[in-house]
Amino acid sequence: MINDSIDRYGSITRFFHWLVAVLVFQQFFKFADRINDGKHWLGDTFGPYHVSIGAIIMILAILRLLWSMKQKNQRPIIEGANSKLVKTVHGIMYFCLIAMPPLGALYIHGHGYPVKVFGQVLIEKPADKVQWAHDIGELHSILAIVLAILVVGHIGAALYHHFIRKDDTLRRMA
Ligand code: HEM
Ligand code: HEM
Repeated sequence: MINDSIDRYGSITRFFHWLVAVLVFQQFFKFADRINDGKHWLGDTFGPYHVSIGAIIMILAILRLLWSMKQKNQRPIIEGANSKLVKTVHGIMYFCLIAMPPLGALYIHGHGYPVKVFGQVLIEKPADKVQWAHDIGELHSILAIVLAILVVGHIGAALYHHFIRKDDTLRRMA
């Protein structure tokens, strides 16, 4: 089933959800740059793809958001005392996925480097460092920490529903 229904997310929503989840986990390896002055095999292995994969995540998140708006009236209803909190967390996660790539680009630009996606120069190397871009770009790291905390809470909530409440929350996205 391509479309969502009241009891289950459809294949397109599930495809977007799990593909973005895998890509985002891989982006989190960038935290490894904080270890040993950036000389860590995780950062070295995944670091070179960080910008290009980040750009793909942003495009997937926008498409996914548009798709979820189209499915609005026929998807599983998030109920319960925490429904507002759950929707807010989902909304902030979407916000992070869409805002982080431009902020990362500002950070790189601010440091005086060109921004390249799949080898194509998107923003030319500036003549010098650009202080304002660097300052705004620093929000990228803050949002990375916010997103990581929300993802941990999100996974904890999914496992809680599945193993303790024993309801359909995880199954309808699986
Ligand atoms: C939604 C997609 C993205 C996610 C989830 C993500 C995640 C992360 C994470 C977890 C870190 C480590 C932060 C830290 O240690 O404080 C990081 C750092 C970084 N990211 Fe991203 N990123 C994404 C997209 C991008 C894009 C598209 C770019 C560039 C255009 C980019 C550029 C950077 C840079 C330059 C750093 C190093 C910042 C620093 O050293 O303070 N990121 N990112
Ligand atoms: C980086 C990783 C992840 C992100 C960014 C993320 C994001 C989201 C978002 C935005 C939604 C709202 C529905 C939608 O618009 O598609 C959602 C739903 C959901 N996610 Fe994740 N997710 C991630 C990983 C996971 C993992 C690992 C699990 C399972 C252990 C999981 C389980 C679920 C479930 C069960 C729902 C449906 C919730 C409901 O209908 O009440 N997610 N996720």
